[in-house]
Amino acid sequence: TMRGDEEYDYLFKLVMIGDTGVGKTNILSRFTKDEFCLESKSTIGVEFSTCAFHIEEQIIKAQIWDTAGQERYRAITSAYYRGAHGAILVYDVTRPASFANISRWLKELREHVDSNTVLILIGNKIDLHNLRNVDSEEAQRFAKKEGLAYIETSALDSTNVEKAFDIIFAEIY
Ligand code: GTP
Repeated sequence: TMRGDEEYDYLFKLVMIGDTGVGKTNILSRFTKDEFCLESKSTIGVEFSTCAFHIEEQIIKAQIWDTAGQERYRAITSAYYRGAHGAILVYDVTRPASFANISRWLKELREHVDSNTVLILIGNKIDLHNLRNVDSEEAQRFAKKEGLAYIETSALDSTNVEKAFDIIFAEIY
């Protein structure tokens, strides 16, 4: 049978959070369009992308919200988090401060979503081997303690980007 664009069996809402410049927009564009931009502009407010795919014969439509990491855009939070099935927390493996701030993002997240929301922590930019400044094991330990899935990605060379979304969608479904 033919199915129109608007037909789907499940609609998932995901939100992406983390400090400015960690790569949220590029992880999303790598996943949804297989695109990467070296000089991407900072997100202003909120943008979202949708994509559709199959899991076990079901059509899943995902609406993925990408928000600005910059403080001055942080007023929008409740609407942004409302009804999210999953959240992707991103830090940059070359910037320890972006990892330290994950606790803050988690706190805000937990104030706005219910406890069965699926959470994944992503350490991004692992292509920058020589600049790595956050230890994998430390991040892994933190994720375990907080009950988050953990994966390291590169939006630049595509490493693990699809896998990260596979993990989260499988857990939601
Ligand atoms: P805000 O919108 O300000 O919150 O930033 P963001 O988290 O969406 O970051 P964005 O995707 O705009 O990326 C910021 C910068 O990091 C850009 O110059 C990207 O090209 C670069 N970048 C993103 N992902 C990677 C990656 O995996 N590797 C490398 N080397 N650079 C990356």
